[in-house]
Amino acid sequence: METTSLKTLRFEPIQESQIPAILEIEKVSNTAPWSERSFRNELGHPHGIFLVAILQGEVVAYGGVWLVIDEAHVTTIAVSPDYRRQGIARRLMSELLVKAKAEGMVCSTLEVRASNEAAIKLYESFGYTIAATRKKYYPDNQEDAVVMWLYDLSSWEPPRL
Ligand SMILES: CC(C)(COP(=O)(O)OP(=O)(O)OC[C@H]1O[C@@H](n2cnc3c(N)ncnc32)[C@H](O)[C@@H]1OP(=O)(O)O)[C@@H](O)C(=O)NCCC(=O)NCCS
Repeated sequence: METTSLKTLRFEPIQESQIPAILEIEKVSNTAPWSERSFRNELGHPHGIFLVAILQGEVVAYGGVWLVIDEAHVTTIAVSPDYRRQGIARRLMSELLVKAKAEGMVCSTLEVRASNEAAIKLYESFGYTIAATRKKYYPDNQEDAVVMWLYDLSSWEPPRL
């Protein structure tokens, strides 16, 4: 695992040139990876925010939300396996929610695999709570989805990082 200082970590909107690096992370992070087309769809998405985390010139993480009326739907988040457990996802989520809130979103929701303890803990640390389970939601392995909500994004404040 890399233990590079995060001082130079920055977030920027997704660019086409970053898609190959994103796909490399995606294929080792998700059992049903997004396609290249799905990431391309995020380029300049009129109702979406998609950020890429860059550390020393390298793509190390990415994540996105769709802005649906006044709800921020978290669509994906992943950190390169070499850079996990260093707080990068926490910073990225914070950036996404700050931007979503600035766009007028008042709450946030997401779906996550029931077995994905790491992600569930991450979301809980932001105030999301489990609202429902969608049985056998994921077609690749019939796994249940947990639906989580952050009901009050309006009064949410970013954590001190
Ligand atoms: C989930 C994921 C994004 C977390 O990224 P990360 O940068 O390692 O997370 P952070 O270091 O910011 O951790 C933030 C908090 O999340 C929780 N967390 C993260 N990884 C965890 C793990 N392996 N086990 C338990 N809790 C974990 C902890 O509460 C952690 O806080 P702490 O370090 O103070 O205990 C990363 O593991 C990943 O990319 N997984 C594969 C893709 C995925 O599952 N995405 C979510 C799809 S919904």
